[in-house]
Amino acid sequence: MPTNIPVLKGKNPLLPGVGFLRNPFEFTIKQAQEMGDFFMMPFLTRKIFIITNHEVVAHVLQKNQKNYIKSPAYRQLRLALGTGLVTSEGEYWRRQRRLVQPAFYKTQLEDLFRGMVVVAEKYMAELEGKCVSGVPLDMAKEMMAATARIVLKTLFSTENTADINEMYLVMMDAQDYLTYRTVKPYFIPLTYLNGKHRKFKKDIAWFDGYIYKLIAERRNDPNPPNDLLTMLLASKDEETGEAMSDRALRDEAVTLFAAGHETSATMLSWALWLLSQHSEVVQEMRDEIAEVLEDRMPGFEDLRKLTYTMQVIQEVMRLFPPGFAIGRQPIAEDEILGVKIPKSAIMFISIAAMHRDPRYWERPTDFYPEHFTPEREKTRQKVAYMPFGAGPRMCIGNHFALMEMQLLLTLLVRQFDFESVEGHPVEAEPLITLKPKYGILMHVSKRRMMAEKV
Ligand code: HEM
Repeated sequence: MPTNIPVLKGKNPLLPGVGFLRNPFEFTIKQAQEMGDFFMMPFLTRKIFIITNHEVVAHVLQKNQKNYIKSPAYRQLRLALGTGLVTSEGEYWRRQRRLVQPAFYKTQLEDLFRGMVVVAEKYMAELEGKCVSGVPLDMAKEMMAATARIVLKTLFSTENTADINEMYLVMMDAQDYLTYRTVKPYFIPLTYLNGKHRKFKKDIAWFDGYIYKLIAERRNDPNPPNDLLTMLLASKDEETGEAMSDRALRDEAVTLFAAGHETSATMLSWALWLLSQHSEVVQEMRDEIAEVLEDRMPGFEDLRKLTYTMQVIQEVMRLFPPGFAIGRQPIAEDEILGVKIPKSAIMFISIAAMHRDPRYWERPTDFYPEHFTPEREKTRQKVAYMPFGAGPRMCIGNHFALMEMQLLLTLLVRQFDFESVEGHPVEAEPLITLKPKYGILMHVSKRRMMAEKV
């Protein structure tokens, strides 16, 4: 017997969730408190289920995941990403996941980490050069540039600054365009008239040409570098022995670039902003960093000793999860906790609202890294915290991202002081990732390391 579920009623019966369209991040956090952890919102002819209930999340992403594909919003991304891991489905996705997974095994991550350290060290020296007293920097932009360089180095071993800049600019424009289409789908027809779509196609053609050239060169390289591209090229299907085609390689490489830098960059921007409001947390991080590393650069083995820094990272992703929601669509009718789910439904799992649910967190809206002490972690419901998603489609780059964020945050906090600019607005804007709408403007100054030791 189907159970009733709370239904959101607004002023406009056809579109009660206008607030959802405006800002799904804030809307779902607020509504989950008022409507509960599993409710329905009519949306024109569709039903959108807003979910923060851990049993329902586990059903959709794990137990009955075969019945769910990604929601229509992801389809826009195919224009740039093709059919890479983020956008593919079914048997093709399963095969690609098996082929790409080995590139993220622990032994490979150790190698990739060495490349990350080289880029991070150079980036810190450049940032030092940009520290001019009284002139603030937009740290959101800075972090995008730093993580883009790390991902380009680990993917393609590219360190040629001119190439990096060109690729970065083209990808940023393409990403902005796709975000626009995803968030404002009703403006899509206009983009064919105002030249935006033509420019996007031109950018993607340039990008493809660049990547196909890299792939061709790499196939003929007798001493290839140990980067992600080489690993993808070497990967073979266990059953058929087949390797990836150039097209599949291109799609996975672009996917890893796109999925792999904006997420980490937004997390780092929020981290710097939260830390600028919590000097006691900065001090505790600095004490830990000094004890573990003294003055040297971190090695792979040091990362697991930087436990407080990891707690800080987890807490930042609790309050501002870069992937703030996961959308799914059933391929056949379903029933969850007695509720009938029609085929046309959208399942909207609000990671952001789960991360602020008072049932799971002692201080849901505070920045409190102690939420992640080992004792608290043991007792908490597992699905209550999922910045990287859950189930078979969980983020493939989670360990890569964690080590990258730990490395960059450690160096930033050790080497610089960050002070937020008074009066500069800080607001979360839920686009493809949860970005700071007006950037994160900060006064940055180099720390005197020796003075600190006295
Ligand atoms: C803070 C950093 C990151 C966060 C918060 C994050 C979050 C997520 C989430 C929530 C998903 C699941 C989406 C869904 O189920 O619909 C996902 C998938 C994915 N992520 Fe990440 N991600 C991060 C960094 C990275 C990095 C560094 C890479 C690659 C280098 C990466 C590559 C991917 C890929 C390829 C998928 C699709 C996996 C599949 O469907 O098989 N991500 N990510």
